[in-house]
Amino acid sequence: MTDANGAAAPPQAGPDARHVAIFDTTLRDGEQAPGFSMTVEGKLIVARALQALNVDVIEAGFAAASDGDFNAVRAVAETIDGPRICSLARLDERDIERAIRAIEPARRRRLHTFIGTSPIHREAKLKMTQGEILARVDRLVRFACAEADDVEFSAEDAIRTERDYLLEVCRTAIEAGATTINIPDTVGYSTPEEMTDLFSYLTGACPKHVVFSVHCHDDLGMAVANSLAAVRGGARQIECAINGIGERAGNCSMEEAVMALSTRRDFFGLDTRIDTTKIYPASVALARVTRHAIPRNKAIVGKNAFAHEAGIHQHGVLADKRTYEIMDAESVGMPSNSIVLGKHSGKHALASRAKSLGFEATKDRIEAIFPEFKRLADTCREVTDADVVKLMTGRLAHDGRSGPWRTRRIELRTDVEDEMRPYARVTMKHDDGSRDTVQCEGGGPIDAAFAAVCAIAGVNGRIVTLELSHNADDDDTRVDAEAVVEVGERRYTGAAREVDVADAAVAAFVAAINQAAVSEAALDEQSRRNQTKPEAVA
Ligand code: KIV
Ligand code: ZN
Repeated sequence: MTDANGAAAPPQAGPDARHVAIFDTTLRDGEQAPGFSMTVEGKLIVARALQALNVDVIEAGFAAASDGDFNAVRAVAETIDGPRICSLARLDERDIERAIRAIEPARRRRLHTFIGTSPIHREAKLKMTQGEILARVDRLVRFACAEADDVEFSAEDAIRTERDYLLEVCRTAIEAGATTINIPDTVGYSTPEEMTDLFSYLTGACPKHVVFSVHCHDDLGMAVANSLAAVRGGARQIECAINGIGERAGNCSMEEAVMALSTRRDFFGLDTRIDTTKIYPASVALARVTRHAIPRNKAIVGKNAFAHEAGIHQHGVLADKRTYEIMDAESVGMPSNSIVLGKHSGKHALASRAKSLGFEATKDRIEAIFPEFKRLADTCREVTDADVVKLMTGRLAHDGRSGPWRTRRIELRTDVEDEMRPYARVTMKHDDGSRDTVQCEGGGPIDAAFAAVCAIAGVNGRIVTLELSHNADDDDTRVDAEAVVEVGERRYTGAAREVDVADAAVAAFVAAINQAAVSEAALDEQSRRNQTKPEAVA
């Protein structure tokens, strides 16, 4: 049987044939990747973001791997309500018992147990025969099902396992009580056509109440395509991770798989329960917790995903976004300022930005400032709102300052007494010679420092994104920070490079506040001038 798009219609379908469950493994497979380990607090931040996304399952860790992992899974199970909380376990009694203890506090739980099934795993790693593995699957999946009411079984390296043997393994796990069967491409070896074919074969030969799941790695850059191809073959759960993090080249990217299903619903005809507007906040939260910046060109969540700099594209997007966009930035929760002013931008884009900042962008005025705009764009990566204000008010040529405020001293305290919140004491100096010190509390010391900076500058700024990065290949040991700060309806960007992470974060925030102070003053002056213009004679 084929569907309207010519693919095999899903032969199996669990309880809801049109629903694809999102099983997020950012906190387990994602965390296993070198450089991505997270503290319990960090995991809780990401878990809250996953709860807001409304994922179906959060794989919070591998409880038997270490006490730290056990505590993290338990903390997530105690804190998060909504998604099922899951722990991974090898197919042995001790691992399974430990996983069950870790997920115990959760209202909705899942146990995920696995064993390698391919020839290389059987012979080189497990030293077990096919028959021995089948017997173990039968015995230990039964054991797990007696202890937990929702058991998922994974045949590790399923893709390199003999097909008929893989089917036997799946049937054994199902007969023993597993209700989700996961088919991992552990080494990222498969292709989309093979995935559709394999899942059609397995789902067609197994009972319909079972949900088949896909778990792909990205070694050949096909994890998302392979996961979607598995869905076309009948899989109804995708295992994935925010920003595609995971072992080696990573896992299937959650945001890419979800947005593919949603944007191409006409093709897939399937739904997830994800609140897509929470995708970008989750991606930023993970980047912050792991200190790995989102690559600029990353699909869906990268800075360039909805940005247009080429003049011809900007012209099209300003006329109708659909000329070059298949999704709205807002639909993934991303700030929508998609027109990036740079050296490829044209007069349409410059005029449009000037208008949005409250200026009368006449043709003559834009013609007059355009050469200066191009000169500026040639010397920097991006022309900011503050630069446009300076161009429009004629201040750029003689005003090279980045703003009136300089930081003099920052003290951050986290080791506070019970009942006290972390705080920061900040001293800043204004160009007019005045100096001010303010102490503020906050959720964390950096948050407190931002509040203190705003209090001193008299600017009501809200941090939107803070990106910290460090190029390990570089000899420079300093950290780069970039802060986007919202003041009213406008956004300002500040950048800084410092040795200390906290100093870099605060300096970037101050740079954005400086931009805001200069721009808001210029805009006030502009609106005063507009109001005092003589009335036109009719
Ligand atoms: O990649 C893999 O095979 C896994 C399993 C443990 C599901 O991560
Ligand atoms: Zn994996």
